[in-house]
Amino acid sequence: MNESKGNVVIHAKGLSKHYVLGAETIRALRNVDLEIHEGEYVAIMGPSGSGKSTFMNLIGALDTPTSGEYWLNGQDVAKLSESKLARIRNREIGFVFQTFNLLARASSLHNVELPLVYAGVPSAERKRRAREKLEMVGLGDRMGHKPPELSGGQRQRVAVARALVNNPAILLADEPTGNLDSKTSAEIMDVFNRLNEQGQTIVLVTHEHDIAEYAKRQVHLRDGVIERDFLNEVRRVPGSVPTADEDNPVAATQTAGA
Ligand SMILES: Nc1ncnc2c1ncn2[C@@H]1O[C@H](COP(=O)(O)OP(=O)(O)OP(=O)(O)O)[C@@H](O)[C@H]1O
Ligand SMILES: [Mg+2]
Repeated sequence: MNESKGNVVIHAKGLSKHYVLGAETIRALRNVDLEIHEGEYVAIMGPSGSGKSTFMNLIGALDTPTSGEYWLNGQDVAKLSESKLARIRNREIGFVFQTFNLLARASSLHNVELPLVYAGVPSAERKRRAREKLEMVGLGDRMGHKPPELSGGQRQRVAVARALVNNPAILLADEPTGNLDSKTSAEIMDVFNRLNEQGQTIVLVTHEHDIAEYAKRQVHLRDGVIERDFLNEVRRVPGSVPTADEDNPVAATQTAGA
């Protein structure tokens, strides 16, 4: 689909998910085929109940399909052991949720460090990497702040830094701007855009057209099937505010918007 294709990181082959509720079977996902390559930035779109979260949970290896195969980074997920799967969830996939899911009493730095604590990384190395990711999302000056001392957009940026701290192959975000106003949403889209420019593969679930327009490709689901899959011809470019500082467009936007 793109001219310069990287490796296939996400490969769904005839993926289906059915839920059986008494006599009723809900076919939440029906025979979905999809390939996503390294470096892509894809928005999964669709109305409520179309199967977006169901698909996201399969992509994130948080759930198993009723039928079909899911290959993540060249590995058939169904054939992985529990421990290998847990490792993949921690290391290969960075999750961002609508509700941030941060520890309220811990500093930004500690929140970002946490996945590395679980991964057994020594303290000095953890701090170094957490600082680096917080700087990447433009929060170099908010490392000691706790979530209640941050704005909504800043909290979500801490969550993005946390998702990135293990250098995951994929950043998976389910409605990351669902709890944010439009200006703050644009701030998060700025961060995503910049991460993608640095090579980060991003899959974003949203039901908002204007958010999906920031991505490079849109995959539309309806009733559990892919209805449309296309490249965004006119991409919404973040930072309607001119970027003074090329190396740090987020900081530049904030200054300009302050
Ligand atoms: N655990 C479950 N048990 C039974 N049915 C389910 C379950 N989870 C989802 N469904 C059904 O599967 C379909 C797809 O749900 P899903 O949550 O994937 O939709 P969605 O596109 O994420 O919607 P939204 O935009 O509202 O979040 C819906 O009809 C839903 O009711
Ligand atoms: Mg959903």
